[in-house]
Amino acid sequence: MAEAPAIESFGTIKFTLNNGTHMPAVGLGTYRVRQETDIMNAVDWALDAGYRMFDTAAVYGNECHLGAALRTFLPKYGLDRDDIFVTTKLSPSEHGDKEITEKAYLKSLKNLGLDYVDLYLIHFPGTARLRSDDGRNKVLRESTWSSLEEIYDEGRVNAIGVSNFTVRHLSELLLTHHSVIPAVNQVEWHPYYHQDELLKYCKEKEIVVQGYCPFGGASAANKTLLEDPVVKKIAKKLNVTCAQVCLVWALQKDVAVIPKSSNAARIKENISLKFRIPEEDMKALDALGEKNIKYAWDPSIVT
Ligand SMILES: NC(=O)c1ccc[n+]([C@@H]2O[C@H](COP(=O)([O-])OP(=O)(O)OC[C@H]3O[C@@H](n4cnc5c(N)ncnc54)[C@H](OP(=O)(O)O)[C@@H]3O)[C@@H](O)[C@H]2O)c1
Repeated sequence: MAEAPAIESFGTIKFTLNNGTHMPAVGLGTYRVRQETDIMNAVDWALDAGYRMFDTAAVYGNECHLGAALRTFLPKYGLDRDDIFVTTKLSPSEHGDKEITEKAYLKSLKNLGLDYVDLYLIHFPGTARLRSDDGRNKVLRESTWSSLEEIYDEGRVNAIGVSNFTVRHLSELLLTHHSVIPAVNQVEWHPYYHQDELLKYCKEKEIVVQGYCPFGGASAANKTLLEDPVVKKIAKKLNVTCAQVCLVWALQKDVAVIPKSSNAARIKENISLKFRIPEEDMKALDALGEKNIKYAWDPSIVT
């Protein structure tokens, strides 16, 4: 009898970005992990579990701890800088011309102790301290993108992208005279909030969608998703956890994921993803989108 083909774990898969860069499908989120010891432990456990991608941002205030943790633990696992993928993001307060964005990028590099990052994202389409309906948001993010393109063209970052961009923000960006199409759009993505039109648009434009808040975020109020009866039933049937169901559901749609955990067992669990969700269960999870529960900030109101 022929043996069934082995299923590859999503934890080892890489997505190819539109410039040929390879990005791990699963990375470690670090939002709200601020204490140095917490980051140290998380990075140690994550590298041990097989994570090769780490997601931070200027506004998380933990770039320097992440950098220190990587310097400490890469040698322990026989890894070099090139073996890992580091993403950071330009703060909404740093939109603007080349001088401002260059300063922001250099500051992030200094904090991280790196001479390049693998992926540099515009964190949010709006600028800090401007009203969402202020027309200057659009002008400023266009200027920011041009500046990121210069950094990219100079070979000082492996890939550039955006975060929290809607179809409107992306299509406006692509209509303007820019030469680089964002490699990634990092957006909120979980069974209660999936942006199918955005995913379709991004696939057409070869922009990888990377989903954040895969479990509904860190807020205590969000336990609903991991305790949803539909998610629980599928987890029980497949003999996996609810968290793993949420991650594989996204990955099967070619959406990369960056779950955050500061717990050794959960860090390991979140990259142990050697199973597939059958089509009928994917549909049942898709249907949860009707709840339309959004946990993070809303970019759709930004002009
Ligand atoms: N671009 C953006 O605007 C944006 C916005 C939000 C987030 N992000 C990025 O996306 C990452 C993920 O999003 P997030 O941190 O907001 O939320 P999340 O990953 O959906 O949820 C994190 C919460 O889930 C818990 N958790 C982790 N693994 C679990 C498991 N296997 N079972 C049960 N609970 C589990 C964590 O607790 P423990 O730590 O105790 O395990 C934590 O409370 C962030 O860390 C950040 O890097 C980006």
